Formats: sequence, structure tokens, C-alpha cells
Amino acid sequence: MNVSIELENLSKVFYNKQKKIDPREKEIWALDGVSFSVNEGEIFGLLGPNGAGKTTTIRCIAGVLQPTKGVIWINGKEIGPKQHEARKKMGFLTENHGSYEHLTVYNNLKFFGSFYGIDDGYLEKRIDEVLDEIGLGERKHMKAGKLSKGQKQRLAIARAILHDPQFVFFDEPTSGLDPVASVKVRELILGLKHKNRTLFINSHNLDEVQKICDRVAILDLGKIKRIGTPNELRKDLFKSQEVVCTLKNVISEGIEQSLKQLEHVKQFRIEGNEIHLFLNDIDETTPIVVEQLVKHGAKILEIKRKIQSLEDIYMKLMKNDEKNQGDK
Ligand SMILES: Nc1ncnc2c1ncn2[C@@H]1O[C@H](COP(=O)(O)OP(=O)(O)OP(=O)(O)O)[C@@H](O)[C@H]1O
Ligand SMILES: [Mg+2]
Repeated sequence: MNVSIELENLSKVFYNKQKKIDPREKEIWALDGVSFSVNEGEIFGLLGPNGAGKTTTIRCIAGVLQPTKGVIWINGKEIGPKQHEARKKMGFLTENHGSYEHLTVYNNLKFFGSFYGIDDGYLEKRIDEVLDEIGLGERKHMKAGKLSKGQKQRLAIARAILHDPQFVFFDEPTSGLDPVASVKVRELILGLKHKNRTLFINSHNLDEVQKICDRVAILDLGKIKRIGTPNELRKDLFKSQEVVCTLKNVISEGIEQSLKQLEHVKQFRIEGNEIHLFLNDIDETTPIVVEQLVKHGAKILEIKRKIQSLEDIYMKLMKNDEKNQGDK
């Protein structure tokens, strides 16, 4: 797997120059030694509470902000703030879209397309293609300033992907979008992944992140708290996961005895003809345990896995932090 984006010890300090303020407020460490890498063709999600430093991370990569410390590598090359050429391979959806409100949707895209050096003939076709993909075709000749909030967000997404960049950075891509448009954007992101583009997403929508991201990092107060696949984070934070097996036959003493001996079963509970199993590493152990149950005479009608969601993982991590801070 090729690493395509790498942040090494990235820090960004903002200085508050007001005179009469508490000394603790003078320096804001928006990023404080952030290191991680994103692999080629991966969808990477950056999560964290308000003020965690997510937008600052994207703004440093985009070259809008100069990091106080640290290095950003893109495809193995260090990238400084003024390297505009290197950034033409990147697309950015930022918090402040920066579309020209007095220009039409089409003229906005035409302007940014020319900036990216897209050939005129191809640009016309490409504008129609992205507007169609994002569901904004019917507003092609409307002034950007007259679009609704969600339509403006769609225009900004169209702009971010217009030049078919190798890397796309989305800061809260579905913020303000209706449910149908959100699904469209998720499909669009997955489509980009299939074209082996590398995608970086800041989001508060944990359900969405769980649906599309391969790996996630959780950022808080400018520091990375955890990083991994949702499954890795789940295993790290929760001792076991629950699997409910509904049996056709009555649960015999034989089955109960054998459950006690199965090494992967940490705990179990029987409710009527349901066995609630608590397993470690559910993906690996569910098939083994089910096979053993069948061997011991269980006639299984249904198996339901109650896996902790990314929201459960996030909440547990944030609660742990609150608790640890309280303990100090
Ligand atoms: N230009 C700036 N000047 C001073 N402080 C700033 C500036 N930009 C960001 N900050 C501070 O840096 C910290 C990180 O902000 P950032 O916008 O990166 O957070 P975020 O994780 O994107 O939050 P949100 O989820 O609310 O979008 C915040 O404490 C914020 O107040
Ligand atoms: Mg932000």
C-alpha cells in the first residue's frame, strides 16, 4: 500500500495579540504535534469536537495556513505553502466556499476550470458531468448568490472535483445537504475511491463516516487520540461484542455446558430460545463459535451481531477523557 499523504509532527499556533487577556489565551495550539499518514486510494476520516483542529489541518495542507512546525508530504515530496503546481493535483471543499456570488454556477466552474488549466473543449463537457453528478444541472445558469445553502454546498463540491484531482479534501461534505443529496455525495465519494483517488474527510456525521471511511483518526485539542479502522478502534475500546443466536430447538443443558467451555466466549446469557454471546474480535470468532454450537446440537434460526457503532466508540473515547481529566 502506498502512502500518499503524510503529516509529520504538524503544529499550528495562533497568537492572540489583544493586550488585556489571560496569558493562557495568548497562544492557541490548534494543532499540537499531529502525525499520521493516508494511503493511496483510501477514504480517511478526521473526527473530533468543535475546535479540535480539523479545519486547520486541511487549511495547512491547502497552503492557506503556514504550519508553525512539522512537515507535510504528498506522494513522498515535502510540500510548502507556495507550491501551487503540486496543489493542482488536489481538490478542496472548505468551510468558506469562496464561490463568486455574482457569477452563475457555470461561470464559477468555468473560472476555476481555467485556473486549473483544463482545456476549453473538455471543460464544457466536464462542467455538465459534475453538475449532473451533484444534481445541480438545473441551476447551471443561476447566480451562485441566489442558490440555497445546500445548493451552494453542491457547487463547492463540484468545484473541488472539477479538475479530477488525485487527492480530495472535504471539510464536512454533507453539511447543510438534504438526505437525498447526502446519499449522492457519499456515492460520489465512493465513486472517486473506485477511481483510486485518495480522499480525506472532516466530519461530525459519524454514521456517514462509518459508512464510507476505511480508517479514521480522532483529534481533540490539536492532538490525535486514536487512529485506525473502526474495527481496530472498537477492539481497542470495548472488551467484547454481543452476538445473539436464536435457536429453533430448546436450549439443552448440553449446549449450556459446552458454551462454558468455548474459549472465545467471554460471557453468555440465555433468554428463552436466545443465546446472548459476548465475544472478543467478533469478525474472527463468530464463525468458530457458531460452528461449535451446531456441533453441540444447536439448530440456529438467526444470528444478529450487535456491534458498537462509530458513535459508541467516539462517545466512549470522549467520556474516558472527561473521566481522566476529572481524576487528575
Ligand atoms: N485564524 C485563527 N485565529 C485564531 N485562532 C484560530 C484561527 N483559526 C482557528 N483557530 C482556533 O484553532 C482551533 C481549531 O480550530 P478549527 O477550525 O481547526 O477546529 P475544527 O476541528 O475544524 O472545529 P469545527 O468542528 O467547529 O469545525 C480553535 O480553537 C479555533 O478557535
Ligand atoms: Mg472545522
